[in-house]
Amino acid sequence: MKAIILIGGLGTRLRPLTCNTPKPLLPVINKPFLLYQIELIKKYGIKDVILCMAYLPSEFKKYFGNGKKFGVRISYAIEKNPLGTGGAIKNAEKFVRGPVLVFNGDVLTDLNLAKLIKVHKAKKAKATITLVHVKDPTSYGLVETTKSGKILRFLEKPSFNQITCNTINAGTYIFEPEIFEKIPPGIVYSVEREVFPTLLCEKIPFYTYTHSGYWIDIGTVEKYLQVHSDIMNKMRENILGKKSKVDKRIKIFGRLVMGNGSKIGRDTMVIGNVCIGNNVNVGSNCYLSDCVILDGSRIDDGTKIEESLVGRDCMVEKNVQLHDGCAIGDKTVIKGYSKL
Ligand code: GDD
Ligand code: MG
Repeated sequence: MKAIILIGGLGTRLRPLTCNTPKPLLPVINKPFLLYQIELIKKYGIKDVILCMAYLPSEFKKYFGNGKKFGVRISYAIEKNPLGTGGAIKNAEKFVRGPVLVFNGDVLTDLNLAKLIKVHKAKKAKATITLVHVKDPTSYGLVETTKSGKILRFLEKPSFNQITCNTINAGTYIFEPEIFEKIPPGIVYSVEREVFPTLLCEKIPFYTYTHSGYWIDIGTVEKYLQVHSDIMNKMRENILGKKSKVDKRIKIFGRLVMGNGSKIGRDTMVIGNVCIGNNVNVGSNCYLSDCVILDGSRIDDGTKIEESLVGRDCMVEKNVQLHDGCAIGDKTVIKGYSKL
């Protein structure tokens, strides 16, 4: 079985970080997010990956090439203009024979693909959709089912008063080749709003698989920070990359990850989960709490960064305070004593 990964979205809710870097290439604990998905796919013996792209495709090609370095074979299905989730899948049809796994490219999960495939085969389904339970379905695609799992209705991005259950589309599907016939070629088409309701309406064998493990869509600044915390909460020790140095007098109350060639100066406090990229220079007497600082940034003395995100190559001058979900775009200069 091959796997299609949809990575053509603009990542608008993660701006300004996604202005120069597509969402799936944003680092999560210092490696591109998409690698986590490729590793999951590989773990289940799937070696052929088709990347469906529309936004900044050359960035992906530069990093992943033909996939050999990562133990997979990668093909690229490039849309001239974004064709939506359905149109993007249709655009990958030429690479696919037989059933195919489809992934939204911004989800981190420990989904058991073997079980999903087993359910799909056992039910002789033409399509299978993975569901998860979430507290608030308003940012997702609500999927109403009967107790036995029969799909009743799809409602993409429901408002509060439309919520009838807490099961949502987890963004991983299996499609038999017939499903491609339901998508018109070359036009913008949505798998969630158009293909799925069509399958229901035409009574095509379409089943669900409910995942109860870890699942997160990294699409917002808050979730991007959360995914770091979730991974770091499971780490047993701090990680310091090659040629990274921390002053003996720093205090760590939590978990610290540093890429290569980074530094932290004296009396800086690290609280909660702090992830620092490559070649980052943090001065002395800083206070870093649950934050992510990307490659090449400089954080001057006395700066306080809490629950915030600093992009690449930024210059945060001394005694700046960043609080509560600040997201600083690449190459930003924040003048000394600013409070954001
Ligand atoms: N190639 C391509 N072309 N990919 C696209 C396009 C496009 O035009 N539009 C979106 N994508 C990709 C995005 O890059 C992302 O990986 C995936 O499709 C889903 O798009 P999002 O923009 O992240 O959608 P969402 O998070 O609002 O909602 C989707 O995901 C939820 C689960 O996280 C829907 O599938 C919901 O139903 C679902 O619950
Ligand atoms: Mg998403």
